[in-house]
Amino acid sequence: MMKEKLDQLREEALKQIKETDSADRLNEIRVAFLGKKGELTGILKSMKDVAPEDRPKVGQMVNDTRAEIEKVLEESKTRMESAIREAKMKAEVIDVTLPAKKNKVGHRHPNTIALEEVERIFVGMGYEVVEGPEVEKDYYNFEALNIPADHPAKDEQDTFYINADLLLRTQTSSTQVHEMEKGRIPIKMIAPGRVFRADEVDATHSPSFHQVEGLVVDKDITFADLKGTLAEFSKQIFGPDTKVKFRPHHFPFTEPSAEMDVSCFKCGGKGCRFCKGEGWIEILGCGMVHPHVLEMSGIDPKEYTGFAFGVGLERIALLKYEIDDMRLLYENDIRFLKQF
Ligand code: DAH
Repeated sequence: MMKEKLDQLREEALKQIKETDSADRLNEIRVAFLGKKGELTGILKSMKDVAPEDRPKVGQMVNDTRAEIEKVLEESKTRMESAIREAKMKAEVIDVTLPAKKNKVGHRHPNTIALEEVERIFVGMGYEVVEGPEVEKDYYNFEALNIPADHPAKDEQDTFYINADLLLRTQTSSTQVHEMEKGRIPIKMIAPGRVFRADEVDATHSPSFHQVEGLVVDKDITFADLKGTLAEFSKQIFGPDTKVKFRPHHFPFTEPSAEMDVSCFKCGGKGCRFCKGEGWIEILGCGMVHPHVLEMSGIDPKEYTGFAFGVGLERIALLKYEIDDMRLLYENDIRFLKQF
C-alpha cells in the first residue's frame, strides 16, 4: 500500500521535473513534494497508521524516495544552469573579424604646426624659448621699447586697456624687456605668444593673433649676425633656395630697423599670383636693438649690442599652407582643420 503510494508520488514528481525547463517551476515542484506541507511530508504523517514493526522499512522507503526526487531535482537544476550559460556564451560571442570602431585622432592647428617648426629651427641654433605675460604694463609694451606716452607708434597699436597702466600687449617685443631686465647676458631667446590690437576682423586682421619675438644680446653682435640668422631661418622654413631682402624701415626700439622679405617660394622670385607679381613676400620686422632700449633695461650699450626681430605666426602659417583668409584659422571648422 505504502510502497505503491510512494512509487506513484515519485513517478509524478519525476514526470513534472522532466516536463519543466524553468528554475522557478523546479522550486515549485520541490515545495509541492518535499516541502513542509508537501506530499511526502503528508505520507510521513500517516506513518502512525503503519504497524510498528513495518515502520523502519517504510521510513527507509520514504527516505529513499525523498533522496531520489532530490537527486533528480538537483541534476535538472545543473542541466538548466549550464544550458543558460551556454546560450549566453553563444549570444555574447565576439566577432573579431568585424571592422573596429575608428578612433578619431585630433589634428594640430596650423598655427601650432608653424610654431613648432619655428621653435625647432631656433632651438637648433641654440636659442631659448621664453614666454611673457599677455596682460602687460604699459611700461613693458611701450615705454621701455622707446615708445613714450605721446609717440605716434602708440596709435598704430591701439589695444584693450585694463586700466591706465595695464593693457593687453600689442606685441611680443615686451618680452625683450623682461629678458633684458634679468641681467643675464648673453641673451639668445625667442618668445612666442598671443598679442592683441583693437583691429576689425578681415582676411588679414584679427584683434588677437600671435607673434614670435627674437632677441640676441652679446658683445660684438652686428647686423651681419641678424642677416645670417634670418637668412638661415628663412631657408629652413620656406625651402633651401629662399633668398632674403632687407628694406629700411622704422621701429622705435631698433636702430637701424628693417623689414625683411623672402623670395617667393612659389615662383622663385619671378613674380606670380601668390606674391602678387612682386617676386618677394614681406615676412617680418627686425633691427639692431636701440642703445636707449638697452640702457633702460640696465644693459650698457657701449659694451653690448643686440639684434631683434618679430614675426607674425599666422603670416607664416597662411603662407606655408597657402591659406588665403586668416579667419579660417580661428573658426575651428573641423573640415578646414583636418586638412593639416
Ligand atoms: N613688434 C613689431 C610689430 O609688432 C615687430 C618687430 C619689429 C619686432 C622689429 C622686433 C623688431 O623685435 O626688432 O610690428
